[in-house]
Amino acid sequence: MNPFMKISQVMRLAYKKHILIPAFNVAYLPMLKPISDALSECNTIGIIEVSRPDIMNFGAKSIEAVAAEYEKFANEKFCFLHLDHVPVIDENFTDVDWEQWIKNGIELGYDSVMIDGSRLSFEENIRITATVVEMAHRNGVCVEAELGSVLGHENKKLPPYEEIFEKKIGFTQPEEAKIFVEKTNVDWLSVSVGSIHGAISGAAKNQKKICARIDIKHLAEINQKTSIPLVLHGGSGIQVDCIKEAIKNGITKINIGTEIRQAYEQVMESDQKIAEKMVKKAVMGIIDSYQIYNSADVLLT
Ligand code: G3H
Ligand code: ZN
Repeated sequence: MNPFMKISQVMRLAYKKHILIPAFNVAYLPMLKPISDALSECNTIGIIEVSRPDIMNFGAKSIEAVAAEYEKFANEKFCFLHLDHVPVIDENFTDVDWEQWIKNGIELGYDSVMIDGSRLSFEENIRITATVVEMAHRNGVCVEAELGSVLGHENKKLPPYEEIFEKKIGFTQPEEAKIFVEKTNVDWLSVSVGSIHGAISGAAKNQKKICARIDIKHLAEINQKTSIPLVLHGGSGIQVDCIKEAIKNGITKINIGTEIRQAYEQVMESDQKIAEKMVKKAVMGIIDSYQIYNSADVLLT
């Protein structure tokens, strides 16, 4: 757990002040240090995270291995450690021992954990999220959940993006979000409002993502009904203007995986050092495009 600052306080303040906290997925262990270095050099507060898909599909190895790498290389004056996507039912529609994953994350000192009940019914999602909140809060750990469904991780073909956006496929329902937050006491919520996840299997995992947009009106309605920090998954490749508007309407954390993973994978086999530099450059580019240099000056006062 971060000894310098509390993730709950920083997220609340960021939400209030409309400052974006970027969260970077570690798909391979050597990506962690360049992410942390970029955050320190830019004086930006961010989150380093690993998801079950990063471990199962790529080279993050285990949540223990990521915690050890974090302990060795992270500068905790600028970052937190988050356990991303612990699905109850995974992208291949298999049941997951989510309770064990969450318990391990809490024991290993992760600052926050995400229970992903997006493939469950509304009632089951509430029930399991509330259980995780209870378990995590007892240990001073924050919880992120997902309501609605940010598509793209599933091992099946997606409808065309325009159809997803126009028909609002998987979108979070504002009224359900209100009830969900009240009943679970979750700390922040991943919402589906136009973004999609980069693919994590097959040939598609190497392709450039489509440039997604955000339904700002829909997001504003969710924000108005929930009043807690909201999270944008599938952060790679979203139109920057949309992100800027989204920040004004409750988005506080953005998850970025594909963009930095692909930067690393392009050279990881030929030159490890350059691959790490590519990650740092990509993270700095993201910080630059969202204009969140020096966010530490505001968030740590
Ligand atoms: O939880 C991880 C993120 O949602 C990453 O999404 O790979 O599309 O950037 P992305
Ligand atoms: Zn995600």
